[in-house]
This record gives sequence, structure tokens and C-alpha cells, in this order.
Amino acid sequence: MTSSVRAALSEAADRLTAVGVESGRADAEALLAWVTGTPRSRLHALSCLSDEAEIAFRAALARRQRREPLQHITGRAAFRHLDLTVGPGVFIPRPETEVMAGVAIDELRSLVKTAAAEPLAVDLCSGSGAVAVAMATEAAGCRVVAVELSMQAADYASRNAAGSAVEVRCGDIADAVDDLVGQAQVVTANPPYIPMAAYESVALEARQFDPPLALWADDDGMQMVRTVAEVAARVLVGGGLVLCEHADVQGDSAPAVFAASGHWVDVRDCRDLAGRPRFVRARRAPRSSGEPGTITR
Ligand SMILES: C[S@@+](CC[C@H](N)C(=O)[O-])C[C@H]1O[C@@H](n2cnc3c(N)ncnc32)[C@H](O)[C@@H]1O
Repeated sequence: MTSSVRAALSEAADRLTAVGVESGRADAEALLAWVTGTPRSRLHALSCLSDEAEIAFRAALARRQRREPLQHITGRAAFRHLDLTVGPGVFIPRPETEVMAGVAIDELRSLVKTAAAEPLAVDLCSGSGAVAVAMATEAAGCRVVAVELSMQAADYASRNAAGSAVEVRCGDIADAVDDLVGQAQVVTANPPYIPMAAYESVALEARQFDPPLALWADDDGMQMVRTVAEVAARVLVGGGLVLCEHADVQGDSAPAVFAASGHWVDVRDCRDLAGRPRFVRARRAPRSSGEPGTITR
């Protein structure tokens, strides 16, 4: 790396740090990698920046200084093994959701091996389709229905799901999968769950750039979790698995929503990679006579 490239990176990192970006150096490198089309690990080999690259780098840096998320600037977001298309109007998938997706994928892989029919997963509040596409691609042989209310977000999900076994439905989770009663083996959900009272504690990037529909819930942040529990109880077969993300302060209240109804057994709360309470897992209780049957393994 020449001194001019090194100096440009160092100055960019300082500027980002000065406006409160925690990962100033990493973001500066990611932006330079993006504008030059050079992998981050190869930036040190850049001899110099062309005028065009320097202008593009400064423009990208100015956006990041205004706290626009890196993923909106580059249009890409990593989720597990996926490189997703994202941008304004869609929630940027977070690393903490990857653990929940992993549990769903393990369940689906074991069902693909043992079940007679193609397993069905339903991903509620699908956003960019991150969880849905991860399930469909990492557990090949399953089918996934993804539900998203925002047309803009559903459009990103459709693009990310192209060529996969994901069917994207634009609609309200309350009724978008009414045709799938008793048919799904797995339900995942990362619903909006942040109470408005927690507004100040939410990162500036999220407050300004994630769609409000993706973040904010009612007073206790639990209304959508209740809806997820109701919908999952309808669509899952007996023995089917539900996984529902929640805020780290909802490690008791979110499982309580599931434990309060007779529809669930084995209700447990699970932690994310940082060790914080992050998602509920529960099994659909056996269905009563007349309802579709229990899971076949
Ligand atoms: C926190 S984001 C999660 C997105 C994605 N599952 C992920 O983990 O990256 C919540 C998503 O739920 C969507 N949403 C909110 N209310 C909804 C509803 N009633 N029905 C369907 N989707 C809804 C939002 O538009 C947003 O995309």
C-alpha cells in the first residue's frame, strides 16, 4: 500500500471514529474495497488511488459519516454463507439472527434425511429473506414460504430468493399462511419487537435507516411475538418447531407468551453468539383429533 492509500485509509478511519462509528477502520477498509473492487485482504497491494476511485471513496465516506449503514452504501449484506442484496426500505440482517437460522437449518436437514415428504418451513417477517434463503439453500430438499408485509422488502426477498425453493408472499403474517394449516415442520420469525420506550438505546444507524415497520412494536414490544405464536400454532404439525427472535430484555416475557398457551411443549429460551437471550424455541403440542397429524420422522 503506498503512503497515499495508507494515509487515505487512516484519515477515513479517523473521520468515522470522530462521528461515533465504532468500527471506523474496518468500515473505511470495506468502503475502499468496494469502490476499488479489491478484496479487503488485498488492499495493501494497491499502488495508488485513481482520481475516480478517490472521488468515489470520498462520496461513500461522506454517506457513512452521516451514519448511513455500510450495507446500504455497498448494497450487500452477509448472512451465514449468503451475500444478500439490501438497500433502503429493507431491514439489514444481523449476525445475532444467524444462530436462530442455524437451529432451523439443523432441524430441516434432519427432516430432509428422514421424512417421507419434502419438509415445509415458514419464515414470518422475512425482510430481505435472509433466514428463508439460508434455510432453503443450507437444507436442500425443503420448501420455504416467506411472508413479508412491506412491498419494498418483499421485493428484496424475491430477488435474494431467485432460483431457490423459497416462495415469497407479500402480506400480513396474521393471515398470509391461512392455507398452510397443520402443514409446516418449522416456523421461524424475527418480528419487530423493540418497545418505543427503548428508542434512545437503539443505534443511530438503525433508527435512521432501518424501516420503522421492521423495528418498533407496541408498548411492551410483545404484540408481534403473540401473533407469531398464534400463527405458528396454526400452521405447524404436532411436534413442529417454532423459533422466534426477541430483544435481549425479553428473555422471560417472550417464552412466557408461548408457555401461556396449551399449544406448546418444551418451551426454552436460547442465547445468541454474544451470550444474550435472543430467541424462543418450542414444539407444537400434539394436535387434537380432527387436526392434521404429528410430525413424521
Ligand atoms: C426485524 S425485521 C426481520 C427481517 C428478517 N427476518 C431478518 O431477520 O433480517 C422484521 C420484518 O417484519 C416485517 N413485518 C412487520 N410487520 C409485519 C406483518 N404484520 N406481517 C409481515 N411482515 C411484517 C417488517 O417489514 C420487517 O421486514
